[in-house]
Amino acid sequence: PLVTTKEMFKKAYEGGYAIGAFNVNNMEIIQGITEAAKEVNAPLILQVSAGARKYAKHTYLVKLVEAAIEETGLPIALHLDHGDSFELCKSCIDGGFTSVMIDASHLPFEENIRITKQVVDYAHSKGVVVEAELGRLSGVEDDVKVAEHEAIYTDPNEVEEFVERTGVDSLAIAIGTSHGAYKFKGEPKLRFDILEEIQRRLPGFPIVLHGASSVIPEYVEMINKYGGQMPGAKGVPEDMLRKAASMAVCKINIDSDLRLAMTATIRKFFAENPGEFDPRKYLGPAREEIKKLVKHKLINVLGCAGKA
Ligand code: G3H
Ligand code: 13P
Ligand code: ZN
Ligand code: NA
Repeated sequence: PLVTTKEMFKKAYEGGYAIGAFNVNNMEIIQGITEAAKEVNAPLILQVSAGARKYAKHTYLVKLVEAAIEETGLPIALHLDHGDSFELCKSCIDGGFTSVMIDASHLPFEENIRITKQVVDYAHSKGVVVEAELGRLSGVEDDVKVAEHEAIYTDPNEVEEFVERTGVDSLAIAIGTSHGAYKFKGEPKLRFDILEEIQRRLPGFPIVLHGASSVIPEYVEMINKYGGQMPGAKGVPEDMLRKAASMAVCKINIDSDLRLAMTATIRKFFAENPGEFDPRKYLGPAREEIKKLVKHKLINVLGCAGKA
């Protein structure tokens, strides 16, 4: 069934694991992710960005997710990723999403509270849950670019007041991750001390980790070998993700790894089969690779296999 994240997060918090939140943009991506989750019996969050909604159209994505639920029978939450306005959140709530993120983390604290509370009031009246963000990730957040040195970690002093005054259901925090395939110039480093302090201040409250792709080196190598150019691509080491999942982090966002799996597979296919022009011939293996990748994440990184 289509569900909210409420029950998922409660069980994940208590069980010391995290739910995978995977970005979806088309049918093959949705099929690859949901077939993997079905095989290992994992609960799932499928998330749609403003860009995805613009690319594939709201109705197509909702219907594809409904089809995946019918095919798999899994509990799946349909979530808006990085909503930037009340209007966008409302449109997704009215259009069948069970969860929305309002990301007003770039605004001053009081403004962030005001707009988040406005979304929470509307969402809760419709049985929908809300994720908000405090602190800013470095890298690319949709159209907003935040340079690495400008990254502002979440201030643990603000979290209790923010959660209390907004009534939000989960909180995305900034502890050193960033979006995209170039997360660290030197050694990867996350501020687990900040996460620890936040979970001490908000016992039992679900925390969300964005920018959590590990930028799997095998895919980067494949892309570079078959004509791509991604020098210096680097992600969050899996050990750090496992550690976060064992703590208050209940939702781990993954998009870039899906993109890399798909692109690496298709580049290899074209390099080896220059005469092929049937999209099923390259989208099929790409879907299969996404399935393999997601199974790996669910079992070995997030720890949510068998928890559906
Ligand atoms: O937060 C970023 C996600 O990876 C979504 O990316 O806005 O290009 O769809 P997008
Ligand atoms: P990655 O770019 O690390 O996959 O992060 C995705 C994300 O946070 C979507 O909101
Ligand atoms: Zn994000
Ligand atoms: Na956890």
